[in-house]
Parts: sequence; C-alpha cells; structure tokens
Amino acid sequence: MKKNSSVWHPNTQMQEWDYFDKIVKGKGMWLIDSTGKKLLDGVGSMWCNVWGHSKKELINAIIRQSKKIPHSSLFNLTNEPSEALAKKLIKISPNMNRVFYSDNGSTAMEIAFKLALQYWKNSGIRNKTILATLENGYHGDTFGAMSVGYVPEFFSKFKEQLFSTIKVSVPNRYRLPRGFSFEDYQLSCIEKIEKLFSTTDKIAAFVMESGAQVAGGVIIYPQEFQKKISKLCKKYDVLLILDEVATGFGRLGSLIEYHAQDSFPDIVAYGKMLTGGYITMGSTLTTKKIYDSFLGGFKEMRHLFHGHTFTGNPLAAAVANENLKLYEKYQLIKKIQNTSKIFEKRRDELNHLDLVGDVRNKGMLMGIELVKNKIQKTPISPKKSINKIIFDEGKKNGIYLRTLGNIVMLVPPLAISTKELDLLIDRTILTIKNTKKKYDL
Ligand SMILES: Cc1ncc(COP(=O)(O)O)c(C=O)c1O
Repeated sequence: MKKNSSVWHPNTQMQEWDYFDKIVKGKGMWLIDSTGKKLLDGVGSMWCNVWGHSKKELINAIIRQSKKIPHSSLFNLTNEPSEALAKKLIKISPNMNRVFYSDNGSTAMEIAFKLALQYWKNSGIRNKTILATLENGYHGDTFGAMSVGYVPEFFSKFKEQLFSTIKVSVPNRYRLPRGFSFEDYQLSCIEKIEKLFSTTDKIAAFVMESGAQVAGGVIIYPQEFQKKISKLCKKYDVLLILDEVATGFGRLGSLIEYHAQDSFPDIVAYGKMLTGGYITMGSTLTTKKIYDSFLGGFKEMRHLFHGHTFTGNPLAAAVANENLKLYEKYQLIKKIQNTSKIFEKRRDELNHLDLVGDVRNKGMLMGIELVKNKIQKTPISPKKSINKIIFDEGKKNGIYLRTLGNIVMLVPPLAISTKELDLLIDRTILTIKNTKKKYDL
C-alpha cells in the first residue's frame, strides 16, 4: 500500500505505519477522520485536552483575539492577554510572583533550569551548579530536558551530549527492589536525598514532576513524598523545581498540584492543559526571591538571556484566559473529582485481565501495565511495537489509544462525562482482551 503521509511522526517507527488516519474534525470527546469514522479520544490529544474538541467558548476566544492581533512579541512590548494570564496564574499559584512564557512544556522546563542555575550565580554563589532529580522522570525532548529527565529507552543515543545530573530513586510500588516493603523503600528514597543534600553543597536545584511521574510509567507518589522533598530543599538551601506540565490543571484532581501536595517550589512549569489543549504554550513561574536576583544595572548582565519568537503569543494567552474562566464557570475540578471515581471503581476489573500486571491511577490519569507473566511481572515483548498493536485494536473498537512502553495510558479530556469514561474503559478492556487473543506477546 502506498504510504499516505509525508509527515515524519513523533516517537514513531515510520516503517511500521503504512497509513495514518487523517483527523478532519472534532466533536466533544470524539475525533472524526476523513472516512467519517469516530474515535473516542483516550489520549486527550497527548494529555492536553480539557473540554473536548469543539468547545465554542475557546474557539470564540481565539477568533476574537485573532481579529485584534494574532501575534505581537513580548520583546520591548507587552499584550493584554499575556498580562491578564500572568495575573491569573500568579493568583492561583501560591507563592509565585512572575511568569515567563514559552512555547511548550520542554521549553518551560529549559527556562526553569536556566533560572535556577543563574539564580545562584546572580546571588554570588558559584559552586551550586548541579541539578539533582528523580530517576525515571521526564521533562521533554530538548537537550536540557533530556539531561534531567533521562529515560534510557528514549535518549541513550544522545548520552554523550547530555550534561550530568544526580539521580535519586523513586518509589515504584509495583517494582520494588528485593527485600523492601513499600513504606521502607519510600523512607530509603527520602534518606538518600537527605544524604545527598547534606554531603555536598553543589546542588543548585532538585527537579521532579509534581504529584506523579507520567511518561516514566505513571508512578504516583505516596502521600507526603513530595512534601518531604520540599522540606529537605528548604533545610539544605536547594531550589525546588516542579514540573506540572502533565499533572497540573486538574489531571491529578487538583488545580495546582504542588499546593495539593503541600509542597513549596521556587519554580514551577505549566503547559499542556493551560490553553485547554488548543494552542501551544508553556509557562514558568517563579517566586519573588528568584525574580529579584535577576534585577540590577544593565552592565551587571544579571538578566535572563532567553526568549522565543512566540513567547507570550496573544492567541495562546487569550484561549488560556478563557480556559481558566471555564474551570470556574463549570467547576471543573469538582467534576473531575467525581468523574475520576469511575477509574477507582473499575480498576480491579482491569487488574484481573490476563495481560495486566498493574493498574495505577489518580484523577483523570490511568496507566495499565501489560505483562507476559503476572507473577514474575515479565514485560511483554511483541515483535511489532505494542503501541501499534494497541492502537490498531483500539481503533477497531472506536477508541484512540497510545501506549508508553508497555503501559496503556488512559488520559482523556478532563471534562469527559462519566458515561463516556465508562465507554472508554469498556472498550479498553475489549482491546486488551483481543490483543491477548490475537498476538504472540
Ligand atoms: C511532565 C512533562 N514535562 C514536560 C513535557 C514536555 O512537554 P512538551 O511535549 O509540550 O514539550 C511533558 C510532555 O509530555 C511532560 O509529561
């Protein structure tokens, strides 16, 4: 068959794909392709969609703003939607004082690293140059983000070019080291961090996803884990950088996840759901302490050398402003807390499937880990990518799925109804059962 796409698709073995469904329309939680086939969006268009695909208010906000000015840069100028959004973000983000805009989650994190590293230089402290982080984290695909969020399966080809960081273990309840209980292992992870902080004064910042690691395998932090790290950062004068790109704005059931975790970052990054998933935008927020260290006479060269062409794009900011208004209008966080009970209720049903080793969920996020052997927890190893297999089988059942390694991700638009979430789970179960029947895994 002649291949139908000239696009080089992300994270894809292109040789496996002869045909890509062409999405021409979206209606609510459904994607519609050029043949008229409907797919229920189980991926939330890469975890960013909030209201579904045709939210009138968001579309109108974009139209209204594009009639005024679609793009004007923040270099020497400002614009109304970016200012309004910055005010709003500061209001909802405890202790944050300034907002730096960028294009996506990776750039929001790159900025976070630069801010933290330069903060110490600006403060006259020259030896705090190392970033420490949790193993298994993911912060994007740019070089800085790969250095900090190093997922070996994704990034080993670039290992020689990445800057070094210090990695500390994260407690994964499903795959604990031999001889540890979950409680003991959590404690040992925290102790290792304290040991690190107390034996070197070179750590500039500790970087972690807020609430859970998503791309690294849906590792949901145990209660108090993030809070304890936050306390250690304060105790040892290490900055805390939290990445809420995937976990903030309701994905885990809270608007601002670091607040729900009772933690106190110096820098936090947002992306994905900030604009409802309609236009790309990232933002990096800092406390006053960080911001003030960048102030000084021009010749001191304390200011931040960073900026993108589309930093503070007015269309993105306008749709983000409208999106945040809708969170209040429709009480979205409350709705998520209710809808996500469906995940809780049906978790065991998924866990009992032959191919399923473990199911982890929080808020509107669920990861279903597929294994060959439930007792030994051996990962499946099909000839084709499991992503392609699950996608094709899911499509037959009218759902759009993407896996991360051996984990089937359910990350639907946040405003999905309970009925549609039940449907998504029904069809995911069918997809996993059919996969087990048809493939040698
Ligand atoms: C936690 C986290 N940080 C950063 C990123 C990178 O965001 P983007 O893909 O918008 O660059 C992602 C993307 O999935 C993410 O999950």
